[in-house]
Amino acid sequence: MPYTNAVLHEIQRFANVVPMNLLHQTKSDIDFKGYRIPKGTPVIPLLTSVLFDKNHWETPHKFNPQHFLDAHGKFVKREAFMPFSAGRRVCLGETLAKMELFLFFTLVLQKFKFSLPPGVRAEHVDLSPTPGITNAPKPFKLCAIRQ
Ligand code: HEM
Repeated sequence: MPYTNAVLHEIQRFANVVPMNLLHQTKSDIDFKGYRIPKGTPVIPLLTSVLFDKNHWETPHKFNPQHFLDAHGKFVKREAFMPFSAGRRVCLGETLAKMELFLFFTLVLQKFKFSLPPGVRAEHVDLSPTPGITNAPKPFKLCAIRQ
């Protein structure tokens, strides 16, 4: 179970579905890291910068469930894991989304065995997203064999 949980977290980190978060605006004048940001300034808090921060992730650009496991295989929370954003405007559907992801993911894994199509090698699969307001996967083929 900790490994499944780690895989799901790593999928969310690596997929980076909402890379630019939603647009925010400062409610008052703010001093931030030596910059004065006046009241009413539109701010785009890039979630990509956190989810791929090399100071927080051992292999930021490589899919690696170990990011969420300790040396004993136990699940560890990471403060830089924020695909749902953070603070007062954090995603209202976070709990529901996490529950749905877990149920859907574990159910399909129990019912199907997944593999690459014949002749396709893992290193040739392009995991880079189709960029947009949300990152979507590029079209791909996958074999799902009912167990
Ligand atoms: C994997 C699925 C999801 C991801 C990655 C996600 C991500 C996000 C992000 C990044 C924001 C912007 C937060 C901000 O402005 O700082 C957001 C806002 C929001 N999300 Fe989600 N979300 C997901 C699923 C859902 C679901 C299932 C619901 C509702 C059932 C939902 C409802 C909302 C609402 C209402 C807001 C606006 C919150 C506000 O502005 O106060 N989300 N979400």
